[in-house]
Amino acid sequence: MKHVISADQYSKKDILEILNLAKKMETILNNGKVCELSKGKILATFFYEPSTRTRLSFETAMLRLGGQVISVSDVKNSSVKKGETIEDTAKIASGYADIIALRSPEAGYAQRAADVSAVPILNAGDGAGEHPSQSFLDLYTIAKHFDLEKDELVVSMVGELICGRTVHSLSKMLRNFPQIKQNFVAPAEIQMPDKYFFAEKGDQKFYELNDEVLTTSDIIYDTRIQKERLSPEVYEKHKNAFHFDCEKVNKMKKNALLMHPLPRVNEISPEVDALPQAKYFEQAKNGVPTRMALIAYALGLEV
Ligand code: CP
Repeated sequence: MKHVISADQYSKKDILEILNLAKKMETILNNGKVCELSKGKILATFFYEPSTRTRLSFETAMLRLGGQVISVSDVKNSSVKKGETIEDTAKIASGYADIIALRSPEAGYAQRAADVSAVPILNAGDGAGEHPSQSFLDLYTIAKHFDLEKDELVVSMVGELICGRTVHSLSKMLRNFPQIKQNFVAPAEIQMPDKYFFAEKGDQKFYELNDEVLTTSDIIYDTRIQKERLSPEVYEKHKNAFHFDCEKVNKMKKNALLMHPLPRVNEISPEVDALPQAKYFEQAKNGVPTRMALIAYALGLEV
């Protein structure tokens, strides 16, 4: 049984294997044929925080694999509201389903569920902790444009990094590719926590989105300032800290990627969507083949 809980679990070999599986899944999707790899299997999705992309793409992934889905998308309508623990919920759900995708408001919930579950747990984002399935689709998107193993890339993570589970997982996964350098761009108050920062590996911190970041990055990974995780004072102070308009994006290299896990609030002007660097919608779409691959990997399906 393979739980998907943290980026820490994956070596370079594992990551490349899962990305290769995602490529096969994309071919299956493009063929448009009915796929029965997961026939008879059930995915249970428990989303105790709002989601559009992660829940729908996990559910689409299971349906495209020929499996079925049961879903709790509103904590108010689940027994968590009555005080049921995550452990009991996971034990019960693992008697109903073959695999569980769980989004939770606190870091560590996915691991707690995995500790007692009889079926694989897929961490679909745990509070300010991690979001490993997002990182796989991020890497899959990057690998469509660059050679992950060879290209000497500069990845700049921009926005609210202190509680950003997408950047926490992505930063860890990128450590498997030592030729890739990481910049963290955020005001000091919402910068990347120290445990993710390694000056000796070439990491740099920037406190504003300056021309050096814009012109030297191969990938800019923008993120939302998360109102739900910051104090009202900190949120108000930084909510407009960064904004990508066409003028800024036009300073980026022509072959650079502007990525964002989405949703965006006001970080990127809609006009930017038409520029060649804008890759966030392609990135979101890559969630389906990538999550098909993760389901197949966790269930040990032969592809
Ligand atoms: N990227 C992401 O996690 O989006 P959702 O919150 O919509 O799932």
